[in-house]
Amino acid sequence: MWPFNPSCKSTARLDGKTVIITGANAGIGKETARDLYRRGARVILACRDRIKAEAAVDDIKKNPPSNLAGPQFAGNVGELAIYELRLDNFRSVRECANNLLRHEPTIHILINNAGICSCPFKKTEDGNEIQLQTNYLGHFLLTLLLLPKLQSSAPGCRIINVSSIAHWFINMHFDDLNMEKSYNPLLAYAQSKLANILFTKELARRLADANIQGINTYALHPGLIATDISRHVNQGMFYGSKFLFNLLCWIFGKNVEQGAQTTIHCSVDEKADEETGLYYYDCHPGMTSFKAKDRRNAERLWNVTCWLLHLKPEANMTELLKIVSRQITECD
Ligand SMILES: NC(=O)c1ccc[n+]([C@@H]2O[C@H](COP(=O)([O-])OP(=O)(O)OC[C@H]3O[C@@H](n4cnc5c(N)ncnc54)[C@H](OP(=O)(O)O)[C@@H]3O)[C@@H](O)[C@H]2O)c1
Repeated sequence: MWPFNPSCKSTARLDGKTVIITGANAGIGKETARDLYRRGARVILACRDRIKAEAAVDDIKKNPPSNLAGPQFAGNVGELAIYELRLDNFRSVRECANNLLRHEPTIHILINNAGICSCPFKKTEDGNEIQLQTNYLGHFLLTLLLLPKLQSSAPGCRIINVSSIAHWFINMHFDDLNMEKSYNPLLAYAQSKLANILFTKELARRLADANIQGINTYALHPGLIATDISRHVNQGMFYGSKFLFNLLCWIFGKNVEQGAQTTIHCSVDEKADEETGLYYYDCHPGMTSFKAKDRRNAERLWNVTCWLLHLKPEANMTELLKIVSRQITECD
């Protein structure tokens, strides 16, 4: 493992700020929560398994980050809270958003981190390929539902989408988003991660067009890290692929604390406050594939996603937020 991986240099504190991290009970999400909690934030772990989330809270409280001497950790610790969220179920996403909107007076940072990789083909109850819905569609819906609260908490708000270098392998399969005609578990993952970047860019553009200020968007690749993300690869690809992935991580990758640094950078770095709609790697803006840069791709994906979520693609941002917020009443 390369020992000199870049780390977030910002010593910013997050006292009084509320951060939501999806999938914060494990891996990169948990390490991000560990850091931001010590910077004074109220960190919400949005997780599907309450028992795992409670164990993570316990671990985060007991074990500080390794660089605890940094000035960013000098003040009081923040708070930790758990909300239930299943990203592969739109009803659960709406319920979670409803609970957050009711109980949290402010939301400053939303980190769309949860993910699954290289699963065998499966459709969710909502009719979408499971990686597309978990990694992208669920986060798109959550973000739109929480946007009005971020708007009222602005300025200084950030939306961070954890993507992957895997996005380079593919373009969007607009004619077959579920990839039913030619399913490949790794390519389906790559497509969902390309969608994360296109969403980041299109959201930044639409926020600017609607003159909604004080909310920036970021996408990132965290690096190669031997987390539980490889849990499905033996089933989805071939026997031994999990071993191969972990070996690659061990030789070329990062440990999980290093793997959280780019997410932390996008969450707190002062210079990043002047940037929006960009893709980061190793704590600085990096290069995406041409497909991820293509504005028509981003617009088309936005429109298709709106259709899938029963939203009006032609609506401007303000109207769209009203329409999606009305869907929340489905939970009552
Ligand atoms: N590790 C890498 O090398 C790597 C490389 C590039 C990108 N990434 C991205 O980094 C992000 C974090 O991955 P990680 O490596 O930290 O993996 P991880 O340790 O497996 O963590 C994934 C998290 O997502 C949660 N999750 C999965 N499905 C969910 C669902 N339907 N609803 C709610 N939560 C769900 C998991 O919850 P459970 O514990 O309950 O399953 C877990 O908390 C992912 O978006 C991944 O694509 C990772």
